[in-house]
Amino acid sequence: MSLSILHTPSLYLRHFQLEDALNVQRLANNYNIAKNLATLPHPYLDGMAESWIESHESLRKAGTHHIWAITLNKKEGDKEFIGAIGLHDISAEHAAAELGYWLAEPHWGKGFASEAVPAVVRVGFQELPLERIFATPFVQNPASGRILQKSGFLKEGVLRRGFKRFDEFQDLIMYAALRDEWLALGL
Ligand SMILES: CC(C)(COP(=O)(O)OP(=O)(O)OC[C@H]1O[C@@H](n2cnc3c(N)ncnc32)[C@H](O)[C@@H]1OP(=O)(O)O)[C@@H](O)C(=O)NCCC(=O)NCCS
Repeated sequence: MSLSILHTPSLYLRHFQLEDALNVQRLANNYNIAKNLATLPHPYLDGMAESWIESHESLRKAGTHHIWAITLNKKEGDKEFIGAIGLHDISAEHAAAELGYWLAEPHWGKGFASEAVPAVVRVGFQELPLERIFATPFVQNPASGRILQKSGFLKEGVLRRGFKRFDEFQDLIMYAALRDEWLALGL
């Protein structure tokens, strides 16, 4: 296993390249995605994808973020970009990171996030010295909660009105996986 490329049965996860920018803008410029994420810009304007992708290398070098493009592993040379997943705000002091992900809407409901999440968690616990990986989906996003539960995360509690998104308070559910417990699941 390497940090730069991850495989699952249907997916090929790799670092972003500047050539992905147009697809990122096209697919991420979707309110149905943005409303469930804390920081994805909406509308997603020209130049934002380029700046975001250009930031990845320094974030990776600083050890604070690892971000992968999710591509469909169809056949060699034909890998359609369909989303993003990352370990964010990695704290070396606390050995903790936040997991975030989104998929292009035409690809929802096909099990792809359920494949990508355990692959990234495995890297977080086996390749990075993380003890805790957490995610905080909004209560109104049960699909994400389901993915996290299936991926071995435990619900720890609800942060009532824990975040304001597009002028509306959101209740967040704190889900977390701990290294030893998660590895013992053998997912
Ligand atoms: C959340 C998101 C990543 C899901 O991706 P996906 O590839 O469609 O997810 P999967 O197909 O792997 O799994 C979805 C699971 O949620 C379940 N689900 C879907 N809608 C649901 C609902 N309203 N209530 C409960 N479960 C639901 C599905 O049945 C499936 O579970 P199953 O495999 O047990 O049947 C995608 O919808 C997305 O990108 N949303 C916008 C961004 C986002 O919410 N990111 C996560 C922020 S924490």
